[in-house]
Amino acid sequence: MRKKIVAGNWKMYLNAEEAQTLVSELTSRCRNIIPASVEVILAPSFVHLCSIHQQIQNEPGFFLCAQNLHEAIQGAYTGEVSASMLKSVGCTHVIIGHSERRQYFGEKDALLANKTNQALNHNLIPIFCIGETLETREAGDTFSLIKNQLTEELFHLSAEEIKLVIIAYEPVWAIGTGKTASPEQAQEVHAFIRELLSEKYGADLSNNISLLYGGSVNPGNAQALFACKDIDGALVGGASLKATDFTEIIKAR
Ligand code: PGA
Repeated sequence: MRKKIVAGNWKMYLNAEEAQTLVSELTSRCRNIIPASVEVILAPSFVHLCSIHQQIQNEPGFFLCAQNLHEAIQGAYTGEVSASMLKSVGCTHVIIGHSERRQYFGEKDALLANKTNQALNHNLIPIFCIGETLETREAGDTFSLIKNQLTEELFHLSAEEIKLVIIAYEPVWAIGTGKTASPEQAQEVHAFIRELLSEKYGADLSNNISLLYGGSVNPGNAQALFACKDIDGALVGGASLKATDFTEIIKAR
């Protein structure tokens, strides 16, 4: 059975007080309404991880996620954060390969593969993001790009390892733009991802991996996206910063 997941990526938003207010609104709105089958994952900035952990540790269904990690175990890497540090403050998940990391910080195949290894070695579940730019989509290269990202960045993993990974399909042109992929567009790519997983690891394993859609998910479009056969949940940016909107998305799942 694949997990149903709604994850909120707060990016570089919210100060300490705002973050705590958001979490208390969210937990009080969601208490008793989150179906046991849905996991809610919050990805605040590193600096808020400890305090948010305190707030959610006794809330069933809530999990703590980092937005990034360093690929080394430890070392003289000023300003960086390791997998074991994340684990030690209560993180269960970590986002890897977000398009903003790829675009602004030059993160590429080998590095992302190493970050994934490091996360898994420390029992952190990667939420691994892939997706095409508008240019790639318009050139008709979406499927070859997706195949390439999966092959170069994730397919070195063993079956035992990849079954722990959550994959998020996030078309870059839909992130923060208010332009969502249509349910048909999203489903088409999700089905393709599942097919590639099936070819490499077998149908059983493929059918058990949660695939999230990300890119301008909001209370108005969540239901139609979640109705698609291969969409198991969402990675939400902007709308995860508002307790009301994020709760509506969770309810839609
Ligand atoms: P968005 O961001 O929902 O604001 O488009 C999604 C993401 O970056 O994960």
